Amino acid sequence: MSRAILVLNGPNLNMLGQREPEIYGRTSLEDIRGLTEARAKTHGLSADFRQSNDEGELVSLIQAARTTAAGVIINAAAYTHTSVAILDALLACELPVIEVHLSNIFKREEFRHHSFVSRAATGVICGFGAQGYELAVDAMAQLLSKAKA
Ligand code: DQA
Repeated sequence: MSRAILVLNGPNLNMLGQREPEIYGRTSLEDIRGLTEARAKTHGLSADFRQSNDEGELVSLIQAARTTAAGVIINAAAYTHTSVAILDALLACELPVIEVHLSNIFKREEFRHHSFVSRAATGVICGFGAQGYELAVDAMAQLLSKAKA
């Protein structure tokens, strides 16, 4: 079995650190990449960490993960709330999925309370900022070791 996790980031997350820091914090996406890769390593996993502003590219990356990855961690950003295409790709890939958000989406505007991604996710981690990615890697490692047992 692959020991790689696809860690997928949606639109505007390339702006982290500069973008609304009072909501999303001052940690850049590159820093989150570092934290995520290091955490994956502690579990004997590797993280294929990607970001795209393009919905179709996110769908293609999820499709490719079907045969190359053991699981998907996804912060689909604004597409969380709009994209049936990303939901369908996640359902089709037949891998464990964990949804992450930096902010607590339930504390924010009503339109952020609904997530299409959640229908495909084993669990959701939101509101812990950059640390949420580390928590998601820990949870994914547990899911994968349970699946192996
Ligand atoms: C986000 C929350 C989304 O509502 C928003 O559109 C984002 C980031 C988060 O990580 O908190 O871009 O996914």
